[in-house]
Amino acid sequence: MKNIELQSILNRCVEKTASFQDFLTLIGLTNKDDLSALYQAAYQVKVNEVGNFVRLRGIIEFSNICNKDCLYCGIRKSNASFERFKMSKDEVLQSAEWAYEMNYGSVLLQAGERVDDEFIDFVEDCVKEIKLLSDNKLGITLSLGEQSRDTYARWFAAGAHRYLLRIETSNEELYKSLHPNDHSFDNRKKCLGWLRDAGYQVGTGVMIGFPRQSDEDLINDIMFFKEQDVDMIGMGPYIEHPDTPMSNSFLEYDAKKQHTLALKMIACTRLAMPNINIAASTALQALDQTGREKGLLAGANVIMPNLTDTKYRDKYKLYDGKPCLDENASQCRLCLEGRVAKIGEKIIYNEWGDSPHFKQRQKHKRD
Ligand code: 5AD
Ligand code: FES
Repeated sequence: MKNIELQSILNRCVEKTASFQDFLTLIGLTNKDDLSALYQAAYQVKVNEVGNFVRLRGIIEFSNICNKDCLYCGIRKSNASFERFKMSKDEVLQSAEWAYEMNYGSVLLQAGERVDDEFIDFVEDCVKEIKLLSDNKLGITLSLGEQSRDTYARWFAAGAHRYLLRIETSNEELYKSLHPNDHSFDNRKKCLGWLRDAGYQVGTGVMIGFPRQSDEDLINDIMFFKEQDVDMIGMGPYIEHPDTPMSNSFLEYDAKKQHTLALKMIACTRLAMPNINIAASTALQALDQTGREKGLLAGANVIMPNLTDTKYRDKYKLYDGKPCLDENASQCRLCLEGRVAKIGEKIIYNEWGDSPHFKQRQKHKRD
C-alpha cells in the first residue's frame, strides 16, 4: 500500500478519528514494511500511554477439571485422553508465595470452569489466604469463567480485584459455531456486566484466526472491547488441539499467518484503546519462538509467566505446542527477564500494575 495512505490511516488512529474501514485496512496488511509501520505506530502509542514497561501476572493453573465443552479447547469435558488434576490449597499458596517473594506484584488464578460449592469455597479461601500471606500486597486476577453474580461478589469481597473472561468472539453466530448448544453468548456477556458491577477491573478477549472468522469480525471484536469499556485484554491466536472436534478444520494451517494476524490484532487494539493493559499471551510463543516479545513490540504490555508446577503443566494444554512445559517457575523468570531486556523494555516489580484506563475510570466515579 502507498506509504502516504498508510501514514494517514495511522495518524487518524492516533487522533482517534479512524473509521471501521481504516481498521479493516490495517488488519488486512500483508507487506513487511507496512506491517512494521503498523507495529511501530502501536508501540509508540503504548510507550506514550503506559510506558515501555512490562507488567507481570504469575499464572497458576490450579485445576484442569472442566464442566464446559467448548469445541476448540484441549481440556474440554469430553476429552478423556489425559489425566485430570486439582492442586491442593497448599500448592496454590506455595506458588503464590513464591511470586510474592520474587516481587511479581500480581498473580492470576486460572482453572477449568466449575460452579459447585466446593470449588467456590476453595477459590474464596485461596484468595483470602494469598492476601494474608502477602500482607495484602499481591494483586489477584481470576480467570474462572461464567459464575453467578453472587459468586463474583464473594470472590471480590475475599480480595480478588481483576477478572478475565474472554468473549471468544463478539459475533453471536460464530460463537454458536465454537460451542455446544447449552453454552450461551448472552450469559457470557451478562457476566461481563456483573463483574463490572461487582467492582472488578474487567478483562476480555477473543481467539484470533479460527475457522470462518473474517477481518470484519475481528474489527467488530475491537468495537465490542470499546463498547464494554474494558480495562484489559487477553487474546491470542487460535491453535488447533488434536483431541477436539475442531481439529483439522483448516484446509491448511499456516502458523506464520496466524501469528501475524494476532500481532495485527494487538496493534489495532492498542491504537483503538491506548491506555488499557494488553497481554502478550503464551499462545503467541507457541507459534513463534520470540512471539511474546513481538507481542510487546506490537503494543502489548503484560506478560503472564507460568508458575504452575512442572508436574501439572503438560496436563493443562488448551492447544497444541504449549511452550515452557519443562521449565519451572524460576527458569521461566530468568528466561523472561532476559527476553524483555533484549528488546529494551523494563519489568516493573512490586506493583499491581492497574491500567491507566482503570485509574481514570475510578477518578470519574469519585468526581
Ligand atoms: N487455541 C487458542 N486459544 C484457546 N483457548 C482455549 N482453547 C484454545 C485453542 N485451541 C483459550 C480460550 C479461553 C482461554 C482460557 O484459552 O480463549 O478463554
Ligand atoms: Fe518459560 Fe521462557 S518463559 S522458559
